[in-house]
Amino acid sequence: MKKKLMPIGLVLAGALAGCATPHNPAPVTLKVAFKNDFLIGAALNPSQFCELNHAEAALVKQQFNSISPENILKWEKIHPAPGRYDFTLADRYVNFGVENKMFIVGHNLVWHEQTPKWVFQDETGNPVSREVLLARMREHIFAVVGRYRGKIGGWDVVNEALNEDGTLRTSPWRKMIGDDYLLQAYQFAHEADPAAELYYNDYSLENPAKRAGALALIRKLQAQGVKISGVGLQGHYNLDFPTLEQFDATITAFARLGVKVMITELDVDVLPRATRDVAADVSKNVQRSENLNPYSSGLPDALQRQLAERYADLFAVLVRHRNDIGRVTFWGVTDGDSWLNNWPVNGRTSYPLLFDRAGRPKPAFDSVITTAGR
Ligand code: GLA
Repeated sequence: MKKKLMPIGLVLAGALAGCATPHNPAPVTLKVAFKNDFLIGAALNPSQFCELNHAEAALVKQQFNSISPENILKWEKIHPAPGRYDFTLADRYVNFGVENKMFIVGHNLVWHEQTPKWVFQDETGNPVSREVLLARMREHIFAVVGRYRGKIGGWDVVNEALNEDGTLRTSPWRKMIGDDYLLQAYQFAHEADPAAELYYNDYSLENPAKRAGALALIRKLQAQGVKISGVGLQGHYNLDFPTLEQFDATITAFARLGVKVMITELDVDVLPRATRDVAADVSKNVQRSENLNPYSSGLPDALQRQLAERYADLFAVLVRHRNDIGRVTFWGVTDGDSWLNNWPVNGRTSYPLLFDRAGRPKPAFDSVITTAGR
């Protein structure tokens, strides 16, 4: 039997009305509410894990039991030049997770974005051979995964290998190594830390064509004997994508492969769509205009309610699948941190998360809490 949980809004309302007694339950937090369901994570920026922003660091400790690094483990940050690694921030990130007994995620090892050009070129700027690129990939994976062996519990080994139609993306990795670059990456990561969980992570896997491609990819890797522990649905959603049916069917389909399903970068965008497609391709860049940024002075109540309902609907599906879901990670802590303030349009005011710009729980927070353990 699950304990009945009281949303933080009600607890606060009770306290303000002067009816708080020592018997009132402590405000419910996300990690406590979902402790029998799945881990609850957030992607952090340096001001949070270095505790420069005290309030947000405290909020992270209070609410989350897993962390992901927003940027600091990406190749361009941690390995900016040949033979030069900068582990300063990554060490701080990992220490924050260890000190607070959190499940620490590594994001990511092999991606076509935020990877410096030199990785793919020789000294004269020409493409390197398959052998050279494989050797660079191996060195990078061994250096980074090896350093945090036993501390980082799971790695997004390959990020975004697929096109929207489910075919393999012709990234520099694929072009220069061949289709087996994925196999190689997972094998290197497994050798570097045999105990770490290894994930495949991508966006819009709820679209049937892309989902079919990802299912085929994971089946192939499994048939090749690769350790693949989970699939990350990035979860860059909006009010109508994905449909709840698509969401449900996607979780079911991946779970059938025997891999854990994780939502790794959850946010729900309420701003007008700047492009017709829903793909969370980080290279998109659309010119800002008034009508694309309608809520710069606050989110209307009706939309706030819609966001809360949308989150409750999504979490109801997740909780129903709690045996298949390992973790749900939000891409940011407060609305002010979100990449959606600058993507795909720079300088908008976005409201995609559960905490407002002051770190206060939004109605969406309460609606999510009420779905726990149902
Ligand atoms: C993708 C990547 C993340 C991050 C987000 C946007 O989903 O996987 O690392 O860059 O885009 O911030």
